[in-house]
Amino acid sequence: MIADVYDHWEGSRATFEAADRMLATRALPVDLALREVGPDTSTEDLNSLDSLTQSCDVLLPMGTFLRGFERPSVFLYAKDPEGQVVGAAAAVAQFHDAHPKKGMVWWGMLSTHASRRGEGIALTLGAMVLREVRQRLGYSECFTGIRAGNSPSEALCSKLALSRTDTVDLLAINPDCFGGGQMTK
Ligand SMILES: CC(C)(COP(=O)(O)OP(=O)(O)OC[C@H]1O[C@@H](n2cnc3c(N)ncnc32)[C@H](O)[C@@H]1OP(=O)(O)O)[C@@H](O)C(=O)NCCC(=O)NCCS
Repeated sequence: MIADVYDHWEGSRATFEAADRMLATRALPVDLALREVGPDTSTEDLNSLDSLTQSCDVLLPMGTFLRGFERPSVFLYAKDPEGQVVGAAAAVAQFHDAHPKKGMVWWGMLSTHASRRGEGIALTLGAMVLREVRQRLGYSECFTGIRAGNSPSEALCSKLALSRTDTVDLLAINPDCFGGGQMTK
């Protein structure tokens, strides 16, 4: 077993309000097309999404969660004119109804292709996911895990009014199942 540790960050109503404010003034770069993962998403798009997230060291959830079959979820991605997925962000309402954190969604899985960073893609997609989470799924609290020292991700989450808590997420990982030995960056 490998142990992995992340800082636990949380966002509340202020995060969702910050996302709405961001979206009033920001949009994806004009060459990108916004898409959402659903039951009809093509294998080609899923493969491109998988390549992107792997290149960013971000592990996608299982397909049934990704597509929203198991729990409510929002999974947005951006495609360039060549059909390559260059950005992704997501949220999954992973807790069951008897769980103490049932009102929270796991938000994040932010991934931007190395050649397209710094264009506001992750911030815009991340804010769009939060807007969908609140409007469509009815949640207004979220959490995410960030490896200590991932300053781009920390800065982005701070912009969206998420805050680091004094909790850590500690994972015991079987390297035979998770080859990279980690879940996210
Ligand atoms: C983190 C990541 C998703 C950011 O993607 P991006 O599309 O380049 O980010 P954006 O252009 O939307 O930046 C939004 C904000 O994030 C912060 N940020 C982004 N990159 C940064 C960097 N290299 N250094 C410091 N802050 C940074 C800034 O606050 C920025 O806002 P600003 O441009 O107004 O200053 C991208 O670097 C990535 O894919 N990294 C690898 C995967 C990863 O770490 N994912 C997060 C897992 S927790």
